Amino acid sequence: MCGIIGYTGADDIVRALAGGLEKLEYRGYDSAGIAFAEHGRLRVIKSVGRIALLEEKLADVRTDARCGIGHTRWATHGRPTEINCHPHLSFGKKFAVVHNGIIENCRKLQTLCENRGITPVSDTDSELIAHLLELNYEGDALSAVRRTAAMLEGSFAVAALCSDAPDEIYAFRRSSPLIIGVGKGMCCLASDGCAARAERTYLLGDGQYARLSSRGAEFFSHGKPAAPKRIQTADAGSCERGGYAHFMLKEIHEQPEAAARTIEAVGNRRLRGEVLYLGCGSSYNAALAAIPLTERGTGAEAHAVTAGEFLFSERVNGRGKTAVLLSQSGETADTVAAAEEAKRRGYATVSITNVPRSSLTRACRRNILTHAGPEISVATTKGFTSQAAALAALLTGAEEEDAVRRLPFAIERALGCDGDAKAVSELFASCRTAFFVGRREDCGAAYEGALKLREITYVPAMGLSAGELKHGTISLVEEGTPVVLIHTDPALKDKTLLTAATVRARGGTVIAVTADDEVAAACDFTLRIPFVPPLLSPAVSVVPLQLLAYHAAVRMGRDVDKPRNLAKSVTVE
Ligand code: M6R
Repeated sequence: MCGIIGYTGADDIVRALAGGLEKLEYRGYDSAGIAFAEHGRLRVIKSVGRIALLEEKLADVRTDARCGIGHTRWATHGRPTEINCHPHLSFGKKFAVVHNGIIENCRKLQTLCENRGITPVSDTDSELIAHLLELNYEGDALSAVRRTAAMLEGSFAVAALCSDAPDEIYAFRRSSPLIIGVGKGMCCLASDGCAARAERTYLLGDGQYARLSSRGAEFFSHGKPAAPKRIQTADAGSCERGGYAHFMLKEIHEQPEAAARTIEAVGNRRLRGEVLYLGCGSSYNAALAAIPLTERGTGAEAHAVTAGEFLFSERVNGRGKTAVLLSQSGETADTVAAAEEAKRRGYATVSITNVPRSSLTRACRRNILTHAGPEISVATTKGFTSQAAALAALLTGAEEEDAVRRLPFAIERALGCDGDAKAVSELFASCRTAFFVGRREDCGAAYEGALKLREITYVPAMGLSAGELKHGTISLVEEGTPVVLIHTDPALKDKTLLTAATVRARGGTVIAVTADDEVAAACDFTLRIPFVPPLLSPAVSVVPLQLLAYHAAVRMGRDVDKPRNLAKSVTVE
């Protein structure tokens, strides 16, 4: 989603902002821009498309300015055009603004601006913030910020420049995160810790605002000085590719450690009673894959619903039940809204998320952290496996504790199929459609395998229960159609063998993901995984599927870490 960056200090502003924007690239965006004050005037440079295109425009820019703001935009209000791209200037060019979030009362604010003779030039809600700042300006930018923030409804993190104070940045936020870094002779701000690295970092409090200059940062709330919250941001290494061709590949290989840290952190906490899982995308898939384990662990029925659908479901009383909200980022708007809705319905709320002090942890009563470390690639990998590992740890009894502790080693061994996955990926790089099927816990993993392939290769891929294949979908299987068949439970072997035979009889190419020799022999190709107790297997069986999608995307020349149209965390409902 949109990302914000700001810098004030001694460095060349154009290079400092370009470097910051590169760090935000992973969040997903379709245009980018920067602004800085030069000789009492605000200068804005923008470009549609990749940061590299903006950098081409910036290559010849020379300036004395040492303070500026920048933005990567993921289009919501209006198409990805240069006019809609941030920073936005106010009507008198007194303020430049970058914004992350959604202004819910934008129609009302637009009318207010139009009544004052201001016609917005873009389709964005963000431009209105710039106009409001100038309308509220009476010579003191900080007061204009306070008045403007009070007029906004919705979620926002905003950074602004005022041409009358060329060395200062003004920041304010509600709901959307904004991190402020302070170092010797410099200050910076960013939407996340990977981009805001300084000696000390702070999370701007909800409803707080700040003034940043090379002399330091001042924090305010309701017109009075406020104490900021000090936080630790990601260490530099975890935000770099570290010799891997892509972040996705690096993160795939970080999974054993991520799972080990997560299992350790869960300790002896356990989930009990009736559980409703809520999440989106891969987080929903992780929940789905954990349903059989949950039912065995809690002895009660468990369900998974996508967070977006839960918001519109029957308002059944949740008293006595637990809603478990899964989100890697902790910022997915549907999931945060589902947490609030679950509380209203009387559920006890528990989050499973990778980001402490995220919107989701604030919305839930209890929080369980996964310890995957920052995930940069848009396609989640260690986010999924650390959720699966957390659920395994939360739901197993004493008799399986050892198996849970061994999960990281099993994930490590599953990485050994990389060469085979690379070879088999050829089938996917040239197919019209692909299927991922499995039963019970393997079904959730199948959903996740299909999502991975879809999002980074753009190949139409479908995940479904192996038993469902014959109820319609098998009509799509033709000569050479790849069907990935996940098999982890020996008790289901006969059914798996039947599925393999049924697909092959129609010319489909079956790729088994299994530890079972007999299943392997009945399929065209095999991606080997070690045997683990079936209910714990999703964290392991998903690994070959991630590698398959990764290698297919590389073969097809796709932008692996930043697939088209996608954002890392979807902060709009
Ligand atoms: O941060 P979250 O886990 O809440 O994100 C949910 C989905 O947006 C996310 O899993 C998405 O499906 C990924 N791109 C999948 O790789």
